Amino acid sequence: LNAGDRVTDADLRAGRALDQAAARLRAAGIEGARRDARILLAAALGIEPSRILAYPERPLSPAEAAAAERLIARRAAREPISRILGRREFWGLELEISQDTLDPRPDSEALVGAVFERLKSHPAPLRILDLGTGSGCLLLALLSELPQAEGVGLDVSPGALAVASRNATAHGLTARAQFVAGDWRQDGWTGHIPGPWQAIVSNPPYIVVDDIEDLAPEVARFDPRVALEAGPDGLASYRILIPTAAQLLAPGGLLALEFGAGQGDPVGSLLARAGFEAPVLIPDLSGTPRCAIATKGRG
Ligand SMILES: C[S@@+](CC[C@H](N)C(=O)[O-])C[C@H]1O[C@@H](n2cnc3c(N)ncnc32)[C@H](O)[C@@H]1O
Repeated sequence: LNAGDRVTDADLRAGRALDQAAARLRAAGIEGARRDARILLAAALGIEPSRILAYPERPLSPAEAAAAERLIARRAAREPISRILGRREFWGLELEISQDTLDPRPDSEALVGAVFERLKSHPAPLRILDLGTGSGCLLLALLSELPQAEGVGLDVSPGALAVASRNATAHGLTARAQFVAGDWRQDGWTGHIPGPWQAIVSNPPYIVVDDIEDLAPEVARFDPRVALEAGPDGLASYRILIPTAAQLLAPGGLLALEFGAGQGDPVGSLLARAGFEAPVLIPDLSGTPRCAIATKGRG
C-alpha cells in the first residue's frame, strides 16, 4: 500500500485487505503475520484461506470489512488465533476452547503418543484419570485411540468442564468420558475419583508465579492463570499429585506427567520419593524432555 492511498469499504478487496492486515500484525510483533492475517480474513469472509490468494480481487462488503477488522484487532492485541476462532486441533480432533481452558499445545501430543503406545494392548478394564483436564484434550485423545478405555477428567474450573463435556459430545465419547469438579488443594478431593486407575495423566500448572509476566503475551494475557501458576518454584502441583497418584493407581499402573523446561530432575525426585519406578522421560517436538512416564510397582 502506498502512502496516501485511501481505502474505503467500497473499494476494499481481499488482496489489499490481506496486505493491510499483514502489515498491522507485523507492526504488532507477530511472527507469521501474513499467514495469521490470511486465516483471520478468511474466517471473517467465511471462506477457505486459500481462496484469498486465488481470488484477491474479491470485494469485501462493509459487514465483512467490519468483521475482519474485529478479528485482526484481537490478533494485534496478541490474542492467539486458536482463541479468536474458539477452536484448536489436537491429536487430529477439532476441540472447542474458551477463556476458561488452556489452549492445548502441540507438545502435549508427545504425552498422548507415549501413553497410547504403552496402553494400546491393555485389556479392559482400562480406566484413565486426567487431572486438570482443561478442554479434555488429553483424555479425549486417548479415548479416541483406545476403544477399550473409559475415563474421568477432573478440573477446578466449571467453565473448562463445560467445554470438555461439549468436546466429548462432539467426538462421540460421552459414553466413556465423564468430567467432575474437584480442587486438589482441598482435603478429600479424591472422593469422587476412587481408584484403582490403570493410568493417570496430567498436564498440571507448572509455571513459577513470578515468571508468568515474562511469558509470550499470547500465554501471559490469554491462558487462564489457574492453568499456569504453580507456586514460587513451579512444583506445587506435582507435590500434591504424585503422592496421590501413587495411592489411586492400580499395581503396575501408569502415571504420565507433563512438566516445564528444567523440571525433569525435581519431578523425577518426587516420583522416586512416592515409590514409583524410574521414570522414562519423553521429549517434545523440539527434543526437550517434556513428560515423565512412571510405573507403580506391583509389590
Ligand atoms: C496446564 S492446564 C492443562 C489443561 C489440559 N490438560 C491441557 O493439557 O491442555 C492445567 C489445568 O489444571 C486445572 N487446575 C489448576 N489447579 C487445579 C486444582 N487445584 N484442582 C484441579 N484442577 C486444577 C486448570 O483449571 C487447568 O485446566
